[in-house]
Amino acid sequence: MITSRELIKKYLDFFRSKGHTVVPSAPLIPEDDPSALFINSGMHPMARFFLEGKHPLGSRIADVQRCLRTDDIEEVGDTTHHTFFEMLGNWSFGNYFKKESITFSYEFLTKHLNIDPKRLWVTVFAGDKDAPQDEESAKYWQEVGIPKERIFYLGKEDNWWAVGETGPCGPDTEIFYDAAPGRLLKTADCGPGCDDRFVEIWNNVFMVYNRTKKGELRELPSKNVDTGMGVERVTAVLQGKDDNYRTKIFWPVIEDWNKKTQKEYAGQNQRFYRIMADHFRAAFFIISDGVTPSNVMQGYVLRRLLRRALRAGWQLGFDKRFYLSALEYWSEFYLSTYPEIKGKLEKVKEVIATEEDKFSQSLRRGEKELLKFLRKKDSRTISGREVFYFYETYGLPLEIVADVVKEEGGKIINRQEFETAFRHHQEKSRTAASGVFKGGLASHHPRAIRMHTATHLLQAALRQVLGSKVKQAGSKVDEEKLRFDFTFDRPLTKEELKKVEELVNQKIKENLPVKWEVMGFQEAKKLGALAFFEHKYGEKVKVYTIGDFSREVCGGPHVKSTGEVGRFKILKEKSSAAGIRRIYATVE
Ligand code: SER
Repeated sequence: MITSRELIKKYLDFFRSKGHTVVPSAPLIPEDDPSALFINSGMHPMARFFLEGKHPLGSRIADVQRCLRTDDIEEVGDTTHHTFFEMLGNWSFGNYFKKESITFSYEFLTKHLNIDPKRLWVTVFAGDKDAPQDEESAKYWQEVGIPKERIFYLGKEDNWWAVGETGPCGPDTEIFYDAAPGRLLKTADCGPGCDDRFVEIWNNVFMVYNRTKKGELRELPSKNVDTGMGVERVTAVLQGKDDNYRTKIFWPVIEDWNKKTQKEYAGQNQRFYRIMADHFRAAFFIISDGVTPSNVMQGYVLRRLLRRALRAGWQLGFDKRFYLSALEYWSEFYLSTYPEIKGKLEKVKEVIATEEDKFSQSLRRGEKELLKFLRKKDSRTISGREVFYFYETYGLPLEIVADVVKEEGGKIINRQEFETAFRHHQEKSRTAASGVFKGGLASHHPRAIRMHTATHLLQAALRQVLGSKVKQAGSKVDEEKLRFDFTFDRPLTKEELKKVEELVNQKIKENLPVKWEVMGFQEAKKLGALAFFEHKYGEKVKVYTIGDFSREVCGGPHVKSTGEVGRFKILKEKSSAAGIRRIYATVE
C-alpha cells in the first residue's frame, strides 16, 4: 500500500526522470502576492513566472507545495475537506504542452502507481466564447488509451482554472479515478464531475491566457502547463479508503486521541476528531511559517482555526494541552518533505498554549450563553447580527457558532448581517495592518528593517564576489534572521563566504546613505536596478540605492544609512533546490 510520502517521492522522481527541476515548496504566506493571505495551490507561487514567460530554474519544474484554503472551513468535518493540504504539481513554461502533459500523467498513473487504466476517466473543456472545445486533449487521451466513452466535455465551472480573478488561466483536463466500478450511477448519462463514484485525482491546466483587470483574456507569452494533484485525496484513493482521515497523515493522531477519550470515531464525534486533526495540522504549518494569532489577516484565520479545534476537543471531553502529541507527530512526519519546519515545534506548542490559556474561559462561557440563547427559542435560529454579538462579546468565531447551531438542529439566518458588522469592526485594525506586505517585508520591526537592508547589501556582495549570474530567487526577513535564495550552481567555499561577509561589513562600516526615489520601471532597469518581482511593479517604482554599491527596485522600508545595520553575520549556506543556494544570516 502506497503511503503519502511514497506518493510524493514517486511523483518527484518520475518528473525528475522526465527532465524536470524539483523546487522546494514556497512558504504558506505568499512572498509576492499581497492580494492573498495564503498560498492556495501549487500554481500560486508560480504565477509570476507564467506572466514573465519563464522560470529561473528551467522550463520543466515540479514540486510538492503546502497550501491552505479558507473558503470552506465550515465544510471541514466530512471525509474530504481540508484547510491545509499538500499539492503535487508539474509545470511546463513554454516547453511541452498538451500531448506530453497527458502522456506523462497517463504513464505515471498506470506504470508507476499501477492504476488499472480501466479505472481512469477524464473530462476536457467543452468550449465557449473564450476558448474552443478542447478536441486536441480528447485526441491525445484516446491516443494513450482512454476510449471515447470515458471522455466527457464540461464547461467553465468544471474545466477551467484560474489563479484568481485576474492573472494566468486556461482550460483544463481533469483525471478521475473510478472508486467503485460497476456501481449504479445517479443517472445514466452521469459521469465524472456528476457522480461521486469518480474521484478527481489530477488537474492538468493549459495556461495560455492572462485575465486583465478589465476582464479581457490576453495570450500569455508562451503555451504552458500547470498540473495539480492533491496528496491527501490521492493517498486515500490509492489505499481504497473513503475517508482521508483514515490515512497515516491523520490516523495515528486520531487513534491516540481516541484512546484517551474512549469516545468512538463515529457519528457527531467523528466530526470533532476531524476538525481537530485538520485545524491543528493547519495551525502547525501556519505558525511554523511565522504567523501568530491576531484579529487581522493570516493571524485571524489562525485564531479561528485554533478556537474551533479547541472547542472540538472540549466536546470530546478533553481539557488542556491535548494537541501536543499530535503536533509532535506531524513535526516528525513532515520533516523529510519540508526540512524548514525543523526546530519549529516548540514555538508552535507555545503559541497554541498561549491562545488556549488566554481564551478558553471566555470561549466556554460564550458557548454556554449561546446554548441558553438558542434553547430559549423553539426554532433554534440565530441572526447574523446576534452571531456577531457572540463574536464580539466572547470571541466565538462564526464557525463555532455555526457548529453549535448545527448540533442543536438550528439555523443561522441573515448571515450577511454578520459579514457587514464584522467588516465594519475590522476596518480600524485593518487600516493599522495595511501595508504589512509592501515590498515583501512581513514585519516592520526595527530589527527586521535592519535585516532587510542587510539583504540588499548581501545581494550586491554576492554579485561582486561570485559574478552577475547571481540573481535573487526569494527572500524572507524577520526580526531574528534573514533568508536569501539566489541562483548559483555550486556550494560556496569558506573563502567566498568569508569574502561576502567581510564585504557587507565593510559597507556597513562605510556608513553609506540609503536613499530612494520613484521612477519609471524602464528607467530603473536602465540604471541597472535589480528587480526581483518584475511583473508585480506598476509603472512607477521605488528604487533604493546604497552608496554606489547597491541599487534595487523595492518597496522598503530600510534604514537611513548602513551604519544602523549593525554587524552582519552569515549563519549558514546550503542548497535550496537545484541551481539555487540559500543563505541564512543575521545582524547583531
Ligand atoms: N492550478 C490547478 C489546481 O490547483 C492545477 O495545478 O488545481
